Amino acid sequence: MLDVFVEAGPATPVTPLSPDDLESWLKTASEESAAWVNAQGFKAKAGETLALPAPNGTVERVLFGIGTGDDPFVYGHLAGKLKPGTYELDPAPADPRLPLLAFALGTYSFDRYKSSRSEGDDATPKVQLVVPPGADCQEASRIARGVFLGRDLINTPASDMGPAELEHAAEKLHHRFDTRFSVIRGDDLLKENYPMVHAVGRASDRAPRLIDMTWGRSDAPKVTLVGKGVCFDTGGLNLKPGNFMALMKKDMGGAAAALSLAQVIMEHGLDVRLRVLIGAVENSVAGNAFRPGDVLSSRKGLTVEIGNTDAEGRLVLGDALAEADAETPELIIDFATLTGAARVALGPELPPFFTKDDALAAEIETAATDVNDPVWRLPLWAPYDSWLDSKIADVNHISDGPFAGCITAALFLNRFVTDTSSYVHFDIYGWNAKARPGRPVGGDVQAIRALYALLCTRYA
Ligand code: BES
Ligand code: MN
Ligand code: ZN
Repeated sequence: MLDVFVEAGPATPVTPLSPDDLESWLKTASEESAAWVNAQGFKAKAGETLALPAPNGTVERVLFGIGTGDDPFVYGHLAGKLKPGTYELDPAPADPRLPLLAFALGTYSFDRYKSSRSEGDDATPKVQLVVPPGADCQEASRIARGVFLGRDLINTPASDMGPAELEHAAEKLHHRFDTRFSVIRGDDLLKENYPMVHAVGRASDRAPRLIDMTWGRSDAPKVTLVGKGVCFDTGGLNLKPGNFMALMKKDMGGAAAALSLAQVIMEHGLDVRLRVLIGAVENSVAGNAFRPGDVLSSRKGLTVEIGNTDAEGRLVLGDALAEADAETPELIIDFATLTGAARVALGPELPPFFTKDDALAAEIETAATDVNDPVWRLPLWAPYDSWLDSKIADVNHISDGPFAGCITAALFLNRFVTDTSSYVHFDIYGWNAKARPGRPVGGDVQAIRALYALLCTRYA
């Protein structure tokens, strides 16, 4: 259980109220309390809090505005709004699952580089919540821990989160869950036939690698997660301008999502044969960098003409996906901070996903709504596939026009998955630029909670 949850104990009651609830609450409240609420102008807007004083000067109760109640994550405000101490929801929401999770997700902060941290984590007073009777805070804790892992990996600067450090993060999971674990590094990628992973990562002093982790009963349904682990994306020789490069430590957000989902699956003990494949590279500039106009070979056997070295993610994924596809698992899921075009289409808060499997798409949509982890299906529009035709190679990795960039990227990826019938690609942003309840500013792993819910429905 996360330490922001406590089983029992003395706690200050927190009363969640919508503006309508507030009206009826005021009728039953003491005259003094009603006068205090009015004097303070408390309106029960989402995230608004008001402490009610007891005659002895302590806090008797906190009123907590949940607004119209249509944001299931409104409880994500609590940790930021309450003074350190122990609280209990009174009354507890009828279905406390998302409120508890939102509260937990809202307690996250990234303090690795704060000097004050050395005084010791446990010394820092926290907001803690007593678990409502019958609520499953183990599940909320498990999901939150997974999300925190992903956020930490993304928030860590590239100087401390290169291909080797990403490997170590995966290796930690390997030791914890006793997986089968192997890593192919540097020039061995050529020997083992991962030419595109090698080409993208070879210009960095920090050797590229393919991380491969397998867990679970060997005859359980096979689910394979593939992550884009570009630890820093300079754009390569097609160098990004400064403002586009600024946030590119987050370009391993797909790998972070895959590891974070893997942790939650393994902690839960879902009955799947899980495999995680991560292409961990740094897209750097040097004399040996791959170039626009080069033709790469690929694990799949396709030759790939390079149009722009900044479209590196799909190359790394292409080789990893070909390996995933080779054992035709029941489901392949990839996560990648793949295109700016996905942000132009849907903005940073709504990651698109792409699949040919309509039944899977419907399951994803249901799960995403259920757990408030929004995603949106975009089409693998077949007529655009010809935009990837190359004059000199089997395929071009980008189209030469400015349109539908996230669709053509997804179509490119689909060239590397030919035998597996259920495959979905998520083009995530991996970052909260502005804080929302339960979603503090910084790295975030989108879509993993939706997929975890889907996998639980299927395999628990
Ligand atoms: N990692 C970027 C995509 C990205 C940029 C995601 C900003 C999220 C925020 C990716 O490697 C990239 O640079 N893509 C190019 C592709 C283009 C050269 C075809 C893009 O989207 O501009
Ligand atoms: Mn790029
Ligand atoms: Zn990238």
